Amino acid sequence: MLRLCPTSHVPEGEGRKVETAEGDFAVFNLGGVFFVTQNACSHGPGHLGEGRVCDGEVECDVHGGRFDIRSGAATREPCWEPLLVWDVILDQGEVCIRLDQGRTA
Ligand code: FES
Repeated sequence: MLRLCPTSHVPEGEGRKVETAEGDFAVFNLGGVFFVTQNACSHGPGHLGEGRVCDGEVECDVHGGRFDIRSGAATREPCWEPLLVWDVILDQGEVCIRLDQGRTA
């Protein structure tokens, strides 16, 4: 199990980029429920953990593409490739994932 960050690291309604030895991830807090996607935008150099969160979507700040945070599906051009997402495991106040269980929409 890969431990990403304490839940307190990600305020409600926001996302955070988390760097690990296994790669970078974006952790989101939607109403107290946590979600994890790949941090790298599927369109280019954007960091989704630093993007704007609105209505369950994250907007990449490079070209304005959007993704559904829950499913990883691309929802606005120029993005069309989905993101990898992971089911979140909450353990001792930390957001964790099983790295080998990433999936796309
Ligand atoms: S790099 Fe994210 S929308 Fe282009």
